[in-house]
Amino acid sequence: MPNEALVKVGAETLGSLADLDLVARREDQRRDNPSIMRIRRGTPSDIAFLAQMLVEAVNWDPQRQPLPGEEILERRETAHYLVGWGRAGDTAVIAEDDGGAPMGAAWFRFFPATEPAYGFIDETIPELAMGVVARFRGVGVGGRLLEALEVEAKCLGVGALSLSVERGNARAVHLYRRHGFEVVCDAGGSHVMRLNLSPGAANGR
Ligand SMILES: CC(C)(COP(=O)(O)OP(=O)(O)OC[C@H]1O[C@@H](n2cnc3c(N)ncnc32)[C@H](O)[C@@H]1OP(=O)(O)O)[C@@H](O)C(=O)NCCC(=O)NCCS
Repeated sequence: MPNEALVKVGAETLGSLADLDLVARREDQRRDNPSIMRIRRGTPSDIAFLAQMLVEAVNWDPQRQPLPGEEILERRETAHYLVGWGRAGDTAVIAEDDGGAPMGAAWFRFFPATEPAYGFIDETIPELAMGVVARFRGVGVGGRLLEALEVEAKCLGVGALSLSVERGNARAVHLYRRHGFEVVCDAGGSHVMRLNLSPGAANGR
């Protein structure tokens, strides 16, 4: 029969160790200090960083052999998220650390029905792509980027955003759902998701 006092002390010790662990992890996160992150609008001169983040987005799964960056930036299906960046409607936000180094980016662009991207719904709904530098993931950078991009979209009078995300990309799917994106349909192992930005509008097709 276990000594109840010992069981209790043991549980408390475990509890306080877990707390200490949590505090330590929070301290680790503070080293990358998302609270001093700055979000700014992207400009055409950010194209190289956006390209780097596009490569991260395609190669999100560490269990898979990564595709070479050159291939991602040459293949029409992936390149057209950025090729000719700077055309009307192209909109990006960049997260930077306090030294001005980029931590992540989110952007959207409109696609014609004749050249749809993976998350295409219609020509009035721009499609979002995003990536965060690996060492800054999981501390809120992606969430801040999404919030900022939604503000940009609303300022432009955009009524909705769409995106395509592989169903296995649990972190990204969680983030998008938390920000109100809903699954519109599934295609080839990916969700097409949509976020309505017009007040009172219901998400849907
Ligand atoms: C997806 C990505 C952009 C998110 O950015 P981030 O800075 O890591 O995101 P945040 O820290 O703001 O939020 C991550 C959320 O996912 C949660 N999360 C982390 N790992 C998770 C997992 N394995 N399963 C489910 N949720 C997870 C976190 O708890 C957090 O949610 P919360 O704020 O409700 O607690 C970033 O991780 C990334 O660049 N990944 C690789 C590229 C990629 O996948 N791009 C998107 C392609 S569609």
